[in-house]
Amino acid sequence: MPDRLFRKKNISDSIKESEGFNGGLKRTLSATNLVTLGIGAIVGTGIFVITGQAAAEYAGPSLTISFLISAVCCVLAGLCYAEFASMIPISGSVYSYSYVTTGELLAWFIGWDLVLEYLFACSSVAVGWSGYMLNLLEGFGIHIPQNIAASTFVYDADGWAFRGSIINFPAVFIVGVVTAFLIGGIRQSAFVNNIIVAIKVSVILLFIGFGISYIDVGNWEPYIPENVSGEFGEYGWSGILRGAAVVFFAYLGFDALSTTAQETRNPQKDMPRGILISLVICAILYISVTAVLTGIVNYKDLHVDAPVAIAVDRAGAGLSWLGPFIKLGAIAGISSVILVMMLGQSRIYYAISNDGLLPKIFSKVNRRGVPYNATIFASIITGLTAGLFPLDVLSELVSIGTLMAFTIVCILIIVLRKTQPNLRRPFKTPFVPWIPLLGAGVCLLQMFSLPASTWLRLAGWTVVGLIIYFLYGIRNSNLNKRKNK
Ligand code: ALA
Repeated sequence: MPDRLFRKKNISDSIKESEGFNGGLKRTLSATNLVTLGIGAIVGTGIFVITGQAAAEYAGPSLTISFLISAVCCVLAGLCYAEFASMIPISGSVYSYSYVTTGELLAWFIGWDLVLEYLFACSSVAVGWSGYMLNLLEGFGIHIPQNIAASTFVYDADGWAFRGSIINFPAVFIVGVVTAFLIGGIRQSAFVNNIIVAIKVSVILLFIGFGISYIDVGNWEPYIPENVSGEFGEYGWSGILRGAAVVFFAYLGFDALSTTAQETRNPQKDMPRGILISLVICAILYISVTAVLTGIVNYKDLHVDAPVAIAVDRAGAGLSWLGPFIKLGAIAGISSVILVMMLGQSRIYYAISNDGLLPKIFSKVNRRGVPYNATIFASIITGLTAGLFPLDVLSELVSIGTLMAFTIVCILIIVLRKTQPNLRRPFKTPFVPWIPLLGAGVCLLQMFSLPASTWLRLAGWTVVGLIIYFLYGIRNSNLNKRKNK
């Protein structure tokens, strides 16, 4: 039994598999596509919604420092992702890396964790999209009835309750639209994504460029508000740290890029570039937006659903023309996050199914190179989750799942350098083991700052995953079948 749990895929077989037949997926993505896919996946709800709330509650104007800390954490993990993605350019991301490094059981565990990250991130972002869309429609005098515009269930101090709403229809709708694009093929998806990225980056640049002259430096005083309550996380340096953990969500998505390695023309060179360049661009945009935002509006007034839109209204007539563009940019921006997260989710199902740990139906690919069953399945469960559950419950699971994936990637880099030192590594994470150790440490620190209820949900999710593995995966794994031949 233990042998079965730790059986590994051969690394050179995996690489050959990706270079040769390529599982029917097509290599169409260039480095530029990867950077735009990266920005498409990263810039969304985080900057358009969470920034204001995190500044108001935790860090004030010094949220810029929180963004910097969080960026450093992501770059550390990103360097490790880049080494793996360039060395093993296949579509399963950390799942595939772990299959060749630590064996099947841990690979399944991580694959299941990635499903959690992408499924819940995608659903939370779809709920965020619904909020902005309803707000925009209200502005045009169009009112969508509450019973098809809010989640079916809510979770409060008394536990789960039925809200009286049928389903959050706009959230389900956007998931359906994105699925249609994905079924059309990754090249088309990348093209749509490029347009959306251009729109959202332009809106952000307009906000920074025009907003800068409306900054009242008095709003930056004090830059680090004093922690008067003595509670951890309420301003001061602990607030900056709590803020970093909260805005971590804003950087998620760059890891989804590594799931497209098998569809990248020159993954060895382009994957590390794609990951790191998109992270750095986003960090610069985030820090600049936060500086302008907290300069225009006092941080105490930023606890609102659309902080960037509020800032342009506050700035007065000279800037209010930008308001509708900000809302449209946010809606477009959030859509592309859903696109890339859905892409990542379907590629994880594809990769796991290709190895036999999930039914083979998920690795079927159509003429355009799209794993359509995996995409439709991802769409159905994402749509249902987004329609039924509220944002807070969904998003709290995202961070813990992602932080765990990042920690494992960092540790695997060290393991693989020891166990397979001679492998060809087109991109090498510098200063191993220090960079990966630092990356894992920062991620673990953030995981431990999350509440016990989130840990319990993660435990529940893991138990369900293990049941599926022991009932299905362990027997149907390709490695099992090969051995029995
Ligand atoms: N980084 C993504 C966002 O902020 C998840 O929406």
